[in-house]
Amino acid sequence: MTLALSVAPSPLGGAAVLALPTTPATSPGELPVVGAGADLLAGLGVDAAAALSREEAKGEPAEVVAIPVGRDGVETVLLAGIGDGGAASLRKAAAAVVRRAKNYESLATTLAHGRDDEAVRAVGESLVLASYFFTRKSEPKPAKLTTAVLVVDDPVAEGAIARARATAGAVILARDLANTPSLEKSPEWLADRAVELARDCKLEVQVWDVDHLRRDGFGGILAVGRGSERQPRFVRLDHAPKQARGHVVLVGKGITFDSGGLSLKTNEGMATMKTDMSGGAAVLGVMSALQALQIGIKVTALVPIAENMPGGDATRPGDVITHYGGRTSEVLNTDAEGRLVLADAMAYAITHLRPEVIVDIATLTGAATLGLGKRHGALYATTDRLRQSLAAAADAGGERLWPMPIVEGYRDALDSPVADLRNVADQSKHYSGGSIIATLFLREFLTPPGSTTAIAPAWAHLDVAGPARADSDEDDVTKGATGFGVRALLRWLEAGAPA
Ligand code: BES
Ligand code: ZN
Ligand code: ZN
Repeated sequence: MTLALSVAPSPLGGAAVLALPTTPATSPGELPVVGAGADLLAGLGVDAAAALSREEAKGEPAEVVAIPVGRDGVETVLLAGIGDGGAASLRKAAAAVVRRAKNYESLATTLAHGRDDEAVRAVGESLVLASYFFTRKSEPKPAKLTTAVLVVDDPVAEGAIARARATAGAVILARDLANTPSLEKSPEWLADRAVELARDCKLEVQVWDVDHLRRDGFGGILAVGRGSERQPRFVRLDHAPKQARGHVVLVGKGITFDSGGLSLKTNEGMATMKTDMSGGAAVLGVMSALQALQIGIKVTALVPIAENMPGGDATRPGDVITHYGGRTSEVLNTDAEGRLVLADAMAYAITHLRPEVIVDIATLTGAATLGLGKRHGALYATTDRLRQSLAAAADAGGERLWPMPIVEGYRDALDSPVADLRNVADQSKHYSGGSIIATLFLREFLTPPGSTTAIAPAWAHLDVAGPARADSDEDDVTKGATGFGVRALLRWLEAGAPA
């Protein structure tokens, strides 16, 4: 169950845990300074100075000093370092607080008291996100902590909390979808979740089944899905507000399991591949929050969904496939399947939607994690402006996107003697840079085949193979699927997107 957030003007609501901020000492040798709510401590019999001194507290983010109380319904006071008090520090502090409070029933905190809407939102999002968990245990322990009250001085903070709820809810939807085991999560199941979402959030929805995919020529999605007993799907969702400003298309990779196909992965390589639809999950999460966040832009979500399996009818290395719109690919490695399904979706977008901007998000290449590590998403964009606005949005949302180059000189590694493109680089070129190569493959699908005059939309590609999963809890991220990209994309849309 999701932690319920509310705001109140006073902490004396009988919460079991009261969390107050501390900031670093202003001169050496002194103790951190307790912020909003410090005046309550004496009445609770709390000697903050003694506790901070004993714990050698510094007031840095993620530091929490716990003091048992047992008076006026307050069981524990937490003194949480917030460092410079910026949104990033507050996120860390809120996450640390909620983890320490998880075995109590209720929490009240002054972490965002006297701060701006951004701070209130950051604390709210982090409290909810850090307390997320996913389980399929036969006897799951219900979460003890069910409510968190943000003590604020400004009632306008209600709006910021509403945005925090919508955003965190969207991230949680993405986490839940990606954490769901693939035994349950067939392509049909995922498409059904999108239909359900459309109903709940008043979006228009269209689902292509396999016959429809064949009729329309979605050769990439069909090629990847044919090795599985479970048939692929293609989902389109539309958020179409009245008098919309601009049109954005979001494309999310929806591989419900990636075994590699006939280019089979190792057991270790495929053990985490139920989350290979994290890009699609992020896009669905984003769509779930557009109404609550009052996004005035037309947003279309496209999610190509398939299970990549090595069944008897699977695509073989050397096969040539025809994508939506007519471009052909020589499939030399069936494990480079994400780009094949995304290519169909992008071709569909430029044929039918002609948006100002396309952004795709995908767990596309292991290579993306080599230089950047697993905590940053790789950000590619065809315009400086789009790259900058997405990087800034990620920053504002508490996510890490790092700009990457689209290296023109590597393009010839994708030349094929028999098709328009090969789906993996010709290794004899020795370019390496697998994430860049995948980007160059996708970029081809921004224009219809044979067209020289078509003006391609601005395009950004987020390769989130690293940050879509976490190996352990860290700040507002929890082990397993992270819902990465939801916050960046929502902030980007809130900031007005295209321009
Ligand atoms: N889903 C994988 C990428 C991936 C790997 C995501 C590890 C998360 C963690 C993708 O479909 C894939 O297998 N890519 C290949 C591409 C290669 C065959 C060119 C890869 O990264 O090895
Ligand atoms: Zn793969
Ligand atoms: Zn994959």
